[in-house]
Amino acid sequence: MRLRTLIPATAALGAAAVGYATVIERNWFVLRRYEVPVLPPGSAPLRVLHISDTHLTPGRKRLMAWVRALDELDPHLVVNTGDSISHPQAIPGFLDALGPLLDRPGVFVLGSNDMYAPEPHNPARYLMGPSSRWRIKKEPDLPWEKLCDELTAAGWLDLNNQRGRLTAGGLDIAVAGVHDAHVKRDRYEKVAGQADPAAGLRIGVMHSPEPGLLDLFAADGYDLLLAGHTHGGQLCVPFYGALVTNCGIERERVRGLHRHPAEGPAWLHVSAGLGTSPWAPARFACRPEASLLTLTPR
Ligand SMILES: [Fe+2]
Repeated sequence: MRLRTLIPATAALGAAAVGYATVIERNWFVLRRYEVPVLPPGSAPLRVLHISDTHLTPGRKRLMAWVRALDELDPHLVVNTGDSISHPQAIPGFLDALGPLLDRPGVFVLGSNDMYAPEPHNPARYLMGPSSRWRIKKEPDLPWEKLCDELTAAGWLDLNNQRGRLTAGGLDIAVAGVHDAHVKRDRYEKVAGQADPAAGLRIGVMHSPEPGLLDLFAADGYDLLLAGHTHGGQLCVPFYGALVTNCGIERERVRGLHRHPAEGPAWLHVSAGLGTSPWAPARFACRPEASLLTLTPR
């Protein structure tokens, strides 16, 4: 192929890929389903809906409608691992998207994007290492306290460096979580200690799946560890996967269900999340997702 043909063909291919990633795949939501054998013998199955990284901005009506319809899955428990908003006026839309899910038992932690409004940057920066390296703001400028107030007023447990206890689907569940380690707000010492062995299930919740935190939760006896933050790599290579994880976890566990540690007793689910930063509004080979984890007896 001659150069004067190759250049326009390459440009056309690139434009098509950008169009696909920003318009089609970014709105091509998918529900992942997993079965996790983590309950005591004889327990009835428990449906846990895991949502993460919606990064909601006003006007994302498709995303809001898709999230709202997740209530049809009839989950016993909803877990939100943060980065829910990316705009100062996004909270009403986020609550509206959750809709009837707020009437169910739920827990949440925050991510950095719930606190710091995203700023314009080169989208390629996402591929250049953890974004915490680039953060320069000192003070939060998003209404994260209002977000927490609204969710707790609905009955959801705030697990930012806190423990909690709830009943879902008739099961007694001990829960604990940490704030976002990506911006050094995690304080594991506030939740440290053996998870109650008398509970039917123990769940550890965090935004960023940093290996050190996963080790701590697993060592304290948490059966199921839930995290988001990675966006599954967001811009992936077909048949290869994520190029970056944006945190300390390895590429192979950038999303999906795995054990932690590799041969250990705990299960880890990392959600690839539902959104993107408004300044990098593209996903490629990494569809936006929510997950329904059906917990079953060991
Ligand atoms: Fe995120």
